[in-house]
Amino acid sequence: MKPEDYSQGDAFQVEKRTVFSREWLPVCAEVQLAKPGDFFTATVGGWGVVAVRDQAGAVRVLRNACRHQNMPVVGTPAGNCESFRCRFHGWTYDLAGKFLSAPPPVAPAGPKSADHDLQSLAVASEAGMLFFSMGEPAAAPRLGALPAYGGTLSTDIACNWKVAVEHLLGEKREGSPDFSWHWPLLALRRAGSLAIVEQIVPQTFLRTRLLTHVFGGSADEHKQASGTIRHVCERLQADRTAGRMPEDTGALLTEFHRRLASD
Ligand code: FES
Repeated sequence: MKPEDYSQGDAFQVEKRTVFSREWLPVCAEVQLAKPGDFFTATVGGWGVVAVRDQAGAVRVLRNACRHQNMPVVGTPAGNCESFRCRFHGWTYDLAGKFLSAPPPVAPAGPKSADHDLQSLAVASEAGMLFFSMGEPAAAPRLGALPAYGGTLSTDIACNWKVAVEHLLGEKREGSPDFSWHWPLLALRRAGSLAIVEQIVPQTFLRTRLLTHVFGGSADEHKQASGTIRHVCERLQADRTAGRMPEDTGALLTEFHRRLASD
């Protein structure tokens, strides 16, 4: 890897077209969509999506891109609603993404068509985590059973997503049977009856959100650890930006870089 792969938007655009357009990407814990109408928005690898539980109870992930002029339909991070009304000119969609109506001046010409519906993406649910894909990848990640959901912490980090992954895959994890990494954006750590899912959300090339989902315990107890990760990642980002690159120090990091290169 080169310093510019961590500090310039061009590399992120390439990753958007390659890694993030074809792999299974985590979006949230399924319990965050407990009731019909619950939704959760995210920008993952440059793709804006909204995860929602529809009226029939099914979980869906839709492109958060209006079919009128491609603007984001949903502007709030999470909530509950009966339908989605685009903030810009009022196109309205049901919870399954089906076009419902639009004010006459901006209504689509011609009869109703699937082209007017929000794009529905492939979805996989595994052990309480929800994944989506822009493409048609093979098998979804296998996490194994997780204990009861205890909450999620959100930490915004001023770093490239690869820095956060590399930190989580650091040397101390090597060979640990209690740590697993699920390409490209999820790491799972188990400690006794506790399981912690670290979900990396690449928002832009220098802005990454870390969602720490705690299963089998309370999320509040992990606030300090999340703050430490932010601190360390921002320092590592400063190193990369200054051209100080780390060595590949273990099998997991080597594998991460191999997968990046092959995608
Ligand atoms: S962009 Fe959504 S209604 Fe116009």
